[in-house]
Amino acid sequence: MKNFRISIPATSANLGPAFDSAGIALDFYLTLEVRKAESWSIKNRSDFLPDHIPYKENIIYQVAERTANQYGRALPPCEITVFSDIPLARGFGSSASAVLAGIEVANQMCNLSLTKEQKLLLGTIEEGHPDNIAPALLGGFTVTAQIEKEQVKWTKLPVPVLDVVGYIPNFELKTEDARNVLPDSFTRQEAITASSVSNMMLSFFLTGDMRQAGDMMEQDLLHEPYRAKLLPLYPDIKQKARQFGAFGTVISGAGPSMISFAPEGTGLNIAGKMAEELPDYRVVHLKIDPDGLKVIEMKDVKEETAAE
Ligand code: HSE
Repeated sequence: MKNFRISIPATSANLGPAFDSAGIALDFYLTLEVRKAESWSIKNRSDFLPDHIPYKENIIYQVAERTANQYGRALPPCEITVFSDIPLARGFGSSASAVLAGIEVANQMCNLSLTKEQKLLLGTIEEGHPDNIAPALLGGFTVTAQIEKEQVKWTKLPVPVLDVVGYIPNFELKTEDARNVLPDSFTRQEAITASSVSNMMLSFFLTGDMRQAGDMMEQDLLHEPYRAKLLPLYPDIKQKARQFGAFGTVISGAGPSMISFAPEGTGLNIAGKMAEELPDYRVVHLKIDPDGLKVIEMKDVKEETAAE
């Protein structure tokens, strides 16, 4: 087993109405450098991560340990250095990327030879839903269905040709809190309309009719109407982004960030104008990551680290 680097993209789940199902990979990254060692250590090298937490409290270690145990293996000690520019608790899948990192550490260290399907299932069971895990693992634009606890269907759609703009507020929102505001049940008519809107949104994506996809994106009935109350500028961000040319704007995952989908080549311009409207937000022009999780062998760790 050689030393290796794992890179996992950020993700944005739901795309409005495809709640707990669709997601895209975006170009913020969690990166781990993993080296064989005599004892365990995990060092965080990122402003987005806490400086010093015992390795046993790190989700990457906890998931790696559970994954190894599940396959009857002992996880060998390693020294892990973690870099990340994925904002925490902002709706960009930071916990899904950490979960997948743990699964991949166990996969590499214990030679588990896990398939994509096994990683997706393990990650979904850890997270509770597959919509961030799938694009973080596979890249691009994914649609999933967790039909039973241990059965996850997935597909990867063509990566849409468009620009993405993200609006990241300076406050956190925990997924659990954002899920607690959702109703436990919907009427039959609400469920029919909600699933029809999601079907239409995905169909318009596939036929390339992004104006209509954007309209459908903004018609979610399952979570946005309830979460909007947690996001003070929700209606303003949607309205302004549309005024500046975006196809549609949605809550990114469970929030509190939002993202717009816009015609290719317009993202920087929209981001510039939106930044003026949102002085308390970090406004970013994002690219879709087409590849998802990558593992790269590090041949000479000392030299690579010194050169960085
Ligand atoms: N689909 C999830 C939600 C994504 O919206 O709650 C965040 O984990």
